Amino acid sequence: MKVLVVNGSPRRSMNTAQLLEKVAEGAATGGSEVELVHLRDHQFSGCISCFHCKDPQGKSYGRCILKDDLRGVLELAHEADVLVLGTPFYFGTETALMRAFLERLWFQYFLYTLKKPPLSPRKKATALIYTMNVKEEDMAAYGKTAIVEAAKKYMEMLFAPCEVFLCTDTKQVKDYSRYEMDMWDVEAKDKRHKEVFPEDLNKAFELGRKLVA
Ligand SMILES: Cc1cc2nc3c(=O)[nH]c(=O)nc-3n(C[C@H](O)[C@H](O)[C@H](O)COP(=O)(O)O)c2cc1C
Repeated sequence: MKVLVVNGSPRRSMNTAQLLEKVAEGAATGGSEVELVHLRDHQFSGCISCFHCKDPQGKSYGRCILKDDLRGVLELAHEADVLVLGTPFYFGTETALMRAFLERLWFQYFLYTLKKPPLSPRKKATALIYTMNVKEEDMAAYGKTAIVEAAKKYMEMLFAPCEVFLCTDTKQVKDYSRYEMDMWDVEAKDKRHKEVFPEDLNKAFELGRKLVA
């Protein structure tokens, strides 16, 4: 079984990356072939609306024609049996890296017709992982619940049922005292990071195991 895990955080070792590493570890326990891709290591754009992927006579029907670094990642995503995408919230939505990836991943398969199913390989098990500063109970007020639901809807339209994993109230930086960040209760953030984040890491590991089961 092939598992692709995609990190949409520009940081390679912080909250999102750590959770994704645990998902990858969990998925690997079953002997799956697991690859973790950090989008920041790649140079790519979002969808350019060229419509080659929607041209049934063209040679790139159902596949993105752009030849940048994302081509290989999209190929891995196409072939994967399990696809796990992780992103922090940036200004109320996914990071620019993840948005660009999602535009390219989704639009190539998406059809503006109800007469045919989308062009995606629909068998994939998928999961979306979001990390964020806000607390879970404040997500709806900040419009985040709707964003997660929208992404889940597209994943399910194109692939298969999609698990959602939320890691809220994260510790954003190692040392808050270095920066002008006095709006946070640093003690509470530290406490949560010590007590709740390890539980989230365990849950991420279990999610990885579940996705390949
Ligand atoms: C540019 C930027 C914008 C952010 N916007 C939000 C936001 O809108 N809502 C939120 O809850 N957190 C926001 N955050 C905080 C991150 O989502 C949070 O710290 C996340 O866990 C970081 O993930 P990482 O540690 O994997 O990089 C923002 C962080 C940055 C750098």
